[in-house]
Amino acid sequence: MENIDWKSLPFGYMKTDYNVRCYYRNGKWGSLEVSSSEHVDLHIAATALHYGQEAFEGMKAFRGKDGKIRLFRWEENSKRMQSSARGLLMAEVPNEIFKEAIVKAIKLNERFVPPYGSGASLYLRPLLIGSGPQVGVKPATEYLFMVFVTPVGPYFKEGFKPVKMMVSRAYDRAAPLGTGSIKAGGNYAAGLRAMHKAHDGGFASVLFLDAKEKKFIDECGPANFFGIKNNTYITPKSDSILPSITNMSLLVIAEDLGMKVERRPIPVEELATFEEAGACGTAAVISPIGAIHDDDTGEIFQYSKDGNPGPWSVKLYERLQSIQTGDSPDKFGWNAFVE
Ligand code: PLP
Ligand code: COI
Repeated sequence: MENIDWKSLPFGYMKTDYNVRCYYRNGKWGSLEVSSSEHVDLHIAATALHYGQEAFEGMKAFRGKDGKIRLFRWEENSKRMQSSARGLLMAEVPNEIFKEAIVKAIKLNERFVPPYGSGASLYLRPLLIGSGPQVGVKPATEYLFMVFVTPVGPYFKEGFKPVKMMVSRAYDRAAPLGTGSIKAGGNYAAGLRAMHKAHDGGFASVLFLDAKEKKFIDECGPANFFGIKNNTYITPKSDSILPSITNMSLLVIAEDLGMKVERRPIPVEELATFEEAGACGTAAVISPIGAIHDDDTGEIFQYSKDGNPGPWSVKLYERLQSIQTGDSPDKFGWNAFVE
């Protein structure tokens, strides 16, 4: 794709050649179908449209210096989609179908896998929806699993430059015993007003607090949160946040780099004590946080005074990326080759 400016790709949708689909009907999954249409023909009473029976995943494939395409921790995404399916009473996609679908979607669109060194990657978006009709509030009996891909650059336009985040107590993303820990589309709809307010105020995203007491940090809009102090990587433990695969990986990398790691509730007041802070996720990778503004108290917590990421954030980012592209040895066995 010689006419794509890989280095300035935004995080957005670009039409590619094919997507992959699989239907669950009469209690079983059918065979994979390849489509070149960007549209889906849906029953007007599909449960996805009315009652939010929908969950998705986000993952990335990277082209290495050796020309090979690496897929990062796909099995974790597959497991998480199964957990989302259980959470919304949808049919679970077995690992084999998940893997076959993502590999097929990558191979059929290989010309859209960004070149090594461009900083871009191929984003994969698997999604599972209730496609069968219901009018009463009940789970569907038919489901549709799809995977589309699109080449992407950084989620936050700043890339690996510190962003500003906003804490607000005016909105909740997910209830304590609700769907916060699964990747249900409804969670993102619930967070839109807060995100809109943050963007309006010049912030990259919202830092949500726990909905029950508003005492602890939950997560950033589309990413988990971490803070760093005293050579320790600290990230929230909460039942209402998405278990981030990037964060899970950073906890391992941080230890490997000689840091201590803690996963525990983080009181809002502790924001004043961090030396570095960041948002992490597939789309966000590591987005260093330069400052957090508390919209209710007016407090401002500064983490970057010179506009640059802190030293630990740089090390974590570089190690994560170098594992994903194959520049560092895959010592934890996280990559699968797309062959
Ligand atoms: N939290 C939310 C709400 C997300 O949407 C994402 C993105 O998937 C993450 C965290 C990060 O998760 P992961 O690292 O698995 O992409
Ligand atoms: C991801 O990081 O893959 C996500 O799903 C975040 C997103 C909502 C863009």
